[in-house]
This record gives sequence, structure tokens and C-alpha cells, in this order.
Amino acid sequence: MVGEGTLRIQPDPAQLAQAAADFIAAQARAKPNLSILVATGNTPMPTYIELARRAEAGAVDFTRVTAVQLDEYLGVSDADPRSLWGWMRRSFVEPLGITRTVRLENPEQFKVALAELGGLDLAILGLGPNGHLGFNEPPSQPDAPTRTLTLTPASLASNAAYWGKLDVPTGAITAGMDVILAARACLLLVSGTHKRDILRAALEGPETPAVPASFLRRTALTVIADEAAWG
Ligand code: GLP
Repeated sequence: MVGEGTLRIQPDPAQLAQAAADFIAAQARAKPNLSILVATGNTPMPTYIELARRAEAGAVDFTRVTAVQLDEYLGVSDADPRSLWGWMRRSFVEPLGITRTVRLENPEQFKVALAELGGLDLAILGLGPNGHLGFNEPPSQPDAPTRTLTLTPASLASNAAYWGKLDVPTGAITAGMDVILAARACLLLVSGTHKRDILRAALEGPETPAVPASFLRRTALTVIADEAAWG
């Protein structure tokens, strides 16, 4: 099980977003040049909207933050609506007024860029329905590096919900488990009844490559989940 104070249950997605925004804003106040690994996906979107609202109101300043890309499909152009780089820019980078970014295009460049940054202060993560983090598909060892891979049927199915009639690309690149687990803090956001079993497995089951998110218990982890996800 995760440590005391690590798991915060919120009544609904709106309050999850408030709590997550509080957490991220507090980190940015403590260290204005925070480096943040940024998940896309549905779960963090209300949080990002709330952060943008606070930035616009002058309550918090993200202009010195560096936003680092977590994952991407292979073979999609910037103009492609499925580009996760585009999704990160539209939902996080631009609305928060962030000017510094690290794009994930190839494992070697990414490693160098992270080293120049001095590592990650915070990883904002969603939970894949199969326990993946980014696109670290099961099985992923804790030292799995940044790499390209073929998506599992489970991820193709869950990602299909994002793109309407467009196919989900089958190839992807992901920040490695090694990168995520080295972050100085991890924030896992989990919403909805469909995540209930995998969240229990991640927090209460064995640490196993079959549930990559289970290795997050080795980090300075905060989980913010809604009641639907925790049950
Ligand atoms: C996707 C992405 C992850 C995301 C996760 C959960 O496949 N690769 O970066 O965090 O699955 O997504 P959602 O928040 O939409 O459930």
C-alpha cells in the first residue's frame, strides 16, 4: 500500500482537479523553474483548465516552468489532430504561459535534454487502463528506458476514444520508466469506475512489470483519485 497522506480521495472529478491544481501550483510557487513531465489523456484536462484559470488570474506564474513531453505516437505530423505534442501544447503549454519545452522525438536527444535540465521535479501522470504509464506498456521493468514500441490492443482500444473515427497509430515513443521513477515527485491522477481495479492493483498489489504503475510506490508519490476510481 502507498504511504499515509499519499492517497487523496476527492468526491468527484471537479474536486480532483482543484486538489491537483493546488498541488501543482504549490510546487511552482516553491520552485518557479520547475521541470514537469506532462501527461495528456482525459483525466488531467480539468486540472490543466483550472491551472490556466489561476495563471490568467495572476495567482500562479508558470512562465519559468519547463514542460516535458511524456509520450507520442510514431508517424504523426504536427498538423495531425492525434499529435500528443499538439495536445500538450494546446492543453498545458500555451494556456499556462509556458515558454520552455522538451519534446520527445528520439531517446538519445531526450536523455541529453533531461540531463541539461537537471532531471524532473514533477511527473504528472494518468493511469492506463492496463496499468501503463505514458506508453510503458505491461510488461515494463522499472529500468525500462525511453524507447519506441508497438502499442498493446488494450491501449489501442482506450486511445481510440480520443480520436473519433481516426485510427490510433500502432507505434509510439515513451519516456522510460527510468525517467518517470527518477522524478523528484510523481502525481498520479485517476478518475472513473473503469480505473477501479487497476488503481487497486497499482497501489495494493505486488510491484510487478505486469502493472508498470505499481513501481510508482518507489517514488515520492501523491495519488489524487475520485470516489468513482477508489470505490
Ligand atoms: C494514455 C496515455 C497516457 C495517459 C493514460 C490515461 O494511453 N498514453 O499518457 O495518461 O493513457 O489516459 P486517460 O487519462 O485518458 O484515462
